[in-house]
Amino acid sequence: MADSQRHPFLQGLSKHRGAPPTVVVIFGASGDLTARKLIPAVYNLSYDNLLPADFFIIGYGRKSIPDEEFRQHATDAIKEFSRRELKTDVWERIAANTRYLAGSYDDKSAFDRLATQIDEIERKVGREIQPLFYISTPPSVFGPILLNLGASGLARKHLGQPHEAKVIIEKPFGRDLATARELNGIIRSVFEERQVFRIDHYLGKETVQDLLVQRFANSIFEPLWNRNFIDSVQITVAEEVGVGSRGGYYEQSGGLRDMVQNHMMQLVALTAMEPPVSLDAEAIRDEKVKLLRAIQALAVGPDGDVVRAQYTAGMVAGKKVPGYLEETGVNPQSGTETYAALRLSINNWRWQGVPFYLRSGKRLARRVSEIAVTFKRPPGTLFAEGARFDLAPNTLSFQIQPDEGLSLIINTKIPGLETRTQPVKMNFRYSTTFGSNTPEAYERLVLDAMIGDGTLFIRGDETEASWRLCTPILEAWTAAGRKGMDAYPAGSWGPPGADALLSKNGHKWRQP
Ligand SMILES: NC(=O)c1ccc[n+]([C@@H]2O[C@H](COP(=O)([O-])OP(=O)(O)OC[C@H]3O[C@@H](n4cnc5c(N)ncnc54)[C@H](OP(=O)(O)O)[C@@H]3O)[C@@H](O)[C@H]2O)c1
Repeated sequence: MADSQRHPFLQGLSKHRGAPPTVVVIFGASGDLTARKLIPAVYNLSYDNLLPADFFIIGYGRKSIPDEEFRQHATDAIKEFSRRELKTDVWERIAANTRYLAGSYDDKSAFDRLATQIDEIERKVGREIQPLFYISTPPSVFGPILLNLGASGLARKHLGQPHEAKVIIEKPFGRDLATARELNGIIRSVFEERQVFRIDHYLGKETVQDLLVQRFANSIFEPLWNRNFIDSVQITVAEEVGVGSRGGYYEQSGGLRDMVQNHMMQLVALTAMEPPVSLDAEAIRDEKVKLLRAIQALAVGPDGDVVRAQYTAGMVAGKKVPGYLEETGVNPQSGTETYAALRLSINNWRWQGVPFYLRSGKRLARRVSEIAVTFKRPPGTLFAEGARFDLAPNTLSFQIQPDEGLSLIINTKIPGLETRTQPVKMNFRYSTTFGSNTPEAYERLVLDAMIGDGTLFIRGDETEASWRLCTPILEAWTAAGRKGMDAYPAGSWGPPGADALLSKNGHKWRQP
């Protein structure tokens, strides 16, 4: 069908997934995330012809930046951070529609000026346009921005239409249950839930999306995906880096807030949730919330379900590195954890009795994120372990980063005249099968928000279900100060307390 024959609203929709004409307003546009991720994401979407013909960017921030300077800043960001090289004609299409507006985040009159600019764009293109607000500022100003989007009427622009206003909110989403509830309260006073897209960039990663496909598009896994066949699950998000120059920021956060409450709880939910009735965003998110609510409250303290630790000086990649307490910006008496390990029990029919172990830390031996599902051992009558039979439990691991892929450990016969066995690993690597130039998480997420698909975003009740589990741990740790804080040398796989957490159940951490 020729573009001119389509319904007026559909004319000019992008080729593949139908994003309507859009103006993306980035709050905090002079910042690091905009340069590192958002501008390169938009550029690559344009490169792939996924943006609508009428597409505009308005950068917003407190500093006054001339339009030309902001465009140059964006060009430099693409050169430095995009996965593809800068192609002038691709970028020029967007650059021509990119401008900057200076204003405070708590000044209603500046939001009125923003509304006027969006009206002007609509007059220029001769049609209604979807406003997509991207809040990419520190969380201290999330509230004022949201309230001013409400007060200026921008939050309700084209409400009820497919191109109604939408808002993307960056992490962190609250510091605990009370602040997450407060932020959700502000959001709900201004936007309808369907207009809201809370980012967890982990959900934009190919491998995380593939978890749903692997689980529900392959009939071999689902019959085994329960307490009858699965022994335990381990989820690891390990970083090699320390806090670097961000010690001051990290002191306010810590590993539980930074990684566990958001990314890792999402990984648990996707691994363990029931099959959704459809691939619809609400159906998937309903199942995730049900799962998060089925996780039993965690015991804190000696013999509890959680371990926290800080890294001490050690060797990383052949170099001596300082301990956390010696890092710049860190209180030498700090009670902030750089490592957290948890043992979760899920109280439902499927998972009763199957421990889910989570660990995340900085300055660990290797940068790796993976989900490893270990199956029960087969009855040992035929191939009892011994000199001839080296048996390992079957383990299916999803490699989230780096080296994205999937591997399965199975026992096999060593070729020869004697029956001897050995565990072997079957590997699937995305880069080998599909090439290595896969889209970045932010490309997928920005496009999904543009078309109003919330599947890969966190719903308000999910944030609260996850904080409900983590807040009592944080409160107990704050009350305990440094008491009970474990330690691990930089470059190791974590503290002894984390090993003890597993050994109680006869388990051991994997070496990913
Ligand atoms: N950077 C990353 O890689 C990354 C990754 C994941 C999530 N995030 C999240 O994304 C958001 C933005 O991150 P970012 O690294 O881009 O932040 P940033 O560079 O520190 O700040 C972004 C912009 O916000 C404004 N701003 C900074 N401090 C402010 C304050 N105290 N009060 C009001 N405005 C302030 C500044 O713009 P003006 O001075 O021009 O107003 C700044 O350029 C944060 O919520 C962060 O947690 C960032």
